[in-house]
Amino acid sequence: MPSQTSSVEIHSNNYKFLQDHVYSHTGIVLEHDKHYLFESRLTPIVKQLGLDSINDLCALLLATSRPEISRKVVEAMTTNETYFFRDPAHYDAIRSVLLPQLRHDRGSTRKLRFWSAAASTGQEAYSLAMLLLEEGFGDWNVQILGTDFSSQVVERAKSGKYQQIEVNRGLPTTLLVKYFRRAGVDWQLTDSVRRMVNFETVDLRKSMGALGPFDLVFCRNVMIYFDAATKKGILKQLHGTLFKGGWLLLGGAETAFGVEEWFDKQNLGAAAVQVAR
Ligand SMILES: C[S@@+](CC[C@H](N)C(=O)[O-])C[C@H]1O[C@@H](n2cnc3c(N)ncnc32)[C@H](O)[C@@H]1O
Repeated sequence: MPSQTSSVEIHSNNYKFLQDHVYSHTGIVLEHDKHYLFESRLTPIVKQLGLDSINDLCALLLATSRPEISRKVVEAMTTNETYFFRDPAHYDAIRSVLLPQLRHDRGSTRKLRFWSAAASTGQEAYSLAMLLLEEGFGDWNVQILGTDFSSQVVERAKSGKYQQIEVNRGLPTTLLVKYFRRAGVDWQLTDSVRRMVNFETVDLRKSMGALGPFDLVFCRNVMIYFDAATKKGILKQLHGTLFKGGWLLLGGAETAFGVEEWFDKQNLGAAAVQVAR
């Protein structure tokens, strides 16, 4: 039988309140047909707080200043889908084009800096770290920054611990055996990989002035949730965090349309790369 919480419809004024709340805190645009998403993501919070419905949750948020509940609600509405070596063409391009170039250009300092913006639970940043170790950069000064709006996913990323179902997605068995240890029913990344990556919370809409400069920035599968103005502002700022000639990698469904003044698009095999001017 459906629980009472899931059977109570969200009032239209509360729906609008939730849309505005999520947008103002993250920039994420949730259209009018996302009732199921609000219900599936917010019902656990409603239950945790001992409330009866999402309408009650909205009433609570409207009546009192409860930043911790507000944050929980907003974080619950982020989509954190990710997996190891997602979009393999990107990693192929990094391996075959970017890394040989950096080996040559940075040979004197042997220092490399990368950023996984919107890193979710960390698979993107750790995939890059494993690739760098596999390509012989283990004795270089490599810093990989992983950031996300959501403090919950940042904490998980920091732990470097993954479930069986997560290591089954995209991670070659050779790398699982080489860079992970069993931790009960889970898998723990080894320190050789973890020490290359630092995670922190960053809202992409805020100033990125203190970050960078980077050789490569991943900003994948997050722009799809933003409106055109937010996207443009973020792309401009990302450009400012890259070295000239540094790479920006966007998700497959995303485009840097309208930002030709900052990036040159290059197709490398199946990968589209935005090269900073
Ligand atoms: C679908 S995941 C993408 C993960 C990874 N980049 C990938 O492609 O596999 C999108 C992530 O963007 C984060 N996000 C949403 N809005 C954000 C914002 N304003 N600033 C930073 N991160 C944000 C979410 O918390 C979520 O973890």
